[in-house]
Amino acid sequence: MNELEDKRDEIQVLNFVIREIGYIPLEVQEFIADKTGLFLVTIQNAIDFFPRYKSTIDSTVEIKVCNGIGCSGRGGLLVLEEIKEVLAIEVEETTKDGKSRLTAQRCFGQCANGPNVNIGGEFYNNFTTEKLEKLIKTNVK
Ligand code: FES
Repeated sequence: MNELEDKRDEIQVLNFVIREIGYIPLEVQEFIADKTGLFLVTIQNAIDFFPRYKSTIDSTVEIKVCNGIGCSGRGGLLVLEEIKEVLAIEVEETTKDGKSRLTAQRCFGQCANGPNVNIGGEFYNNFTTEKLEKLIKTNVK
């Protein structure tokens, strides 16, 4: 990444990162902002504007945990905390290998079957921390 220190133009830097690793994760965005003196939001706006830039790799699996009141009351907050611990990331972050991204979302409309988690577009109702080991560790991470 020392090459980045010599690059001042954000587009050149973003092109460099895309060529090197294929996506621009948040940690790299922060590094670029730090090294170039640009605001992080400027980097993120460029990534959003140009279709060739992306902050996740194509194979990134999105893990959405419902943090609505219904699911939270049925153990959803514990599930969210467990997933954060297993993946070693916070909400709105992507794992270092780029394979998993965690988000929290209010109400999937399936409150009676909560806690609810959506992994890669597939819904899991009555999600428990026991299911976590199998689904997150073996299939996602
Ligand atoms: S609160 Fe989770 S599905 Fe409604």
